Amino acid sequence: MNTIDLVRQAFVSPLGQLVESPAEYLSLIRATQDAKFGDYQANMAMPLAKTLKRKPRDVADEIVKTLPVGGDFESIDVAGPGFINIKLSKSFLQWRLTEQWKSPTVGITPIDATKTIVVDYSSPNVAKPMHVGHLRSTVIGDAIARTYRALGWRVLSDNHLGDWGTQFGMLIYGWRNLRDETLAQESPIQELARLYKLVNRMGEDDANLARACRDETAKLHEADADNLALWNQFMPWCLADLGKMYDRLGIAFDMQLGESFYQPMLADVVTSLTTKRLAEVSDGAICVFFPDPSGKVDEEGKPIALLPPTIIKKTDGAFTYATSDLACIKYRVEHFKPSVMVYVVDDRQSLHFQQLFSAARKWGFEKVGLVHVAFGKITGKDGKPYKTREGGTVGLESLLDEAVERARRVVDENSPELPESERAHVAEIVGIGAVKYADLSQNRQSDYVFDWDKMISLQGNTATYLQYVYARNRSIFRKGEIDPASLDPGQTEITLDHPSERALAIKLIQFGEAVTMSAEDYRPNVITSYLFDLANAYNGFFRDCRVLKAESEPLRKSRLILCEITARTIRQGLDLLGIKTVDRM
Ligand code: ARG
Repeated sequence: MNTIDLVRQAFVSPLGQLVESPAEYLSLIRATQDAKFGDYQANMAMPLAKTLKRKPRDVADEIVKTLPVGGDFESIDVAGPGFINIKLSKSFLQWRLTEQWKSPTVGITPIDATKTIVVDYSSPNVAKPMHVGHLRSTVIGDAIARTYRALGWRVLSDNHLGDWGTQFGMLIYGWRNLRDETLAQESPIQELARLYKLVNRMGEDDANLARACRDETAKLHEADADNLALWNQFMPWCLADLGKMYDRLGIAFDMQLGESFYQPMLADVVTSLTTKRLAEVSDGAICVFFPDPSGKVDEEGKPIALLPPTIIKKTDGAFTYATSDLACIKYRVEHFKPSVMVYVVDDRQSLHFQQLFSAARKWGFEKVGLVHVAFGKITGKDGKPYKTREGGTVGLESLLDEAVERARRVVDENSPELPESERAHVAEIVGIGAVKYADLSQNRQSDYVFDWDKMISLQGNTATYLQYVYARNRSIFRKGEIDPASLDPGQTEITLDHPSERALAIKLIQFGEAVTMSAEDYRPNVITSYLFDLANAYNGFFRDCRVLKAESEPLRKSRLILCEITARTIRQGLDLLGIKTVDRM
């Protein structure tokens, strides 16, 4: 159990004396930011007092009266109008730290029964160059998948590739009519990227060319043998190119079932929805409507809709993005029986997902959780979408190269003594980590400003700072020639007498709850904030408490144990975010 759940548990019985369902009030117990209010604070006396028509202070006193002090709690006080401040006891902290030491996940509490989650993320449209915008889904989705895996869920990560779209008509047209044979021999994927850009540009002023491309797409969708052969030729190149990027980011998917995979199922989706009278013909297209179930009508007598209708078959007979996503939901439910499916996709697709989820519910998929984990744009300092100095979109590969180059400068400056090959290795880890962390540490729903200088800084809420704190921690063990495995909190009493030791201990035993909260809200930034606070608490401890030169051997061991748990927690926490650590940097 997480520390906060243990604290909440103690409140169940006292609250049970006052109300029938204490659960909603338990959520009002939170960790405090400031030790002057204790370690946890319970704020339920105010809403309870309203329900019970009593004074908050009296309600708080009554709750506190029945809570046992002396065991897990050192003190429980009522402050102000009825805030309950809880201070954990030393023996409780020592026990929690020892458990954390023993835990292979450093205190992450797995859920009881295995549940399945499908995480749909990255999902770029292939054959178009990946740019900085694709980073967010990839990085956030990977962190969510890793976090759920650590919590003991069965995680199925799915790269729902856009591999059947109109870009293929353009590529087929370009390949047949505009191909540069030499370039195509040298690097077919680069030739495809060039052709895509070229055809895209030419199509803007040439309506005939644009139509020809659309015809090629239509032929592909009708399974024209020549076009299908080209598609089959292009796909491995595209996948290999994407794979290179994912390798570099350290990301692997359990499956890559793109839109093309669902094509054979689309006609049945439309038939099923039509037969069930959930879809109907409108202006020649087949649409799913979302009327208000209450049957309300507007001033003109037309039924009020909750959402605009979604087209599942166009007038020209083509199926849509929505049709394919409906087929995909059916497929996933039938094959994997997930408790929940999350879609890590930017917020411009919010309407699509609202329509999709509503349509799926009507269609009979009522139980599975369907969540759009939406996120905002990456912008430059001017607030506009992030562009290169020349104004083009920033390719993902060159972005990562630049991150590593900049990290290299930091490493060279900081640790000139490291051998060349090690510096290159560290720079890769620091550079990639910085880019990922900068993204993950934002509230995902806001747009975020891409800023190189902040990102790779040894100070502030950055991966570089955390990696640096970690490496410095490791250097203590190197310097003292201590093998962490030789330490044992079962043999050494963990001393928590200095306020900075205690503050660090409190942060450490809150790792599990930070991870749970991050997972529940699909918010990796809960973990980054936690890690940043932890690193700061550790720095405070390191500033105030001598470790290698502690006053006595037991104290030295106790402090080394705190250092070791901190290191493991940072490493595990960063691992949940897909970020690596190094022992020296
Ligand atoms: N390929 C889409 C795009 O780039 C994102 C797909 C997201 N996943 C999904 N199941 N719709 O916009």
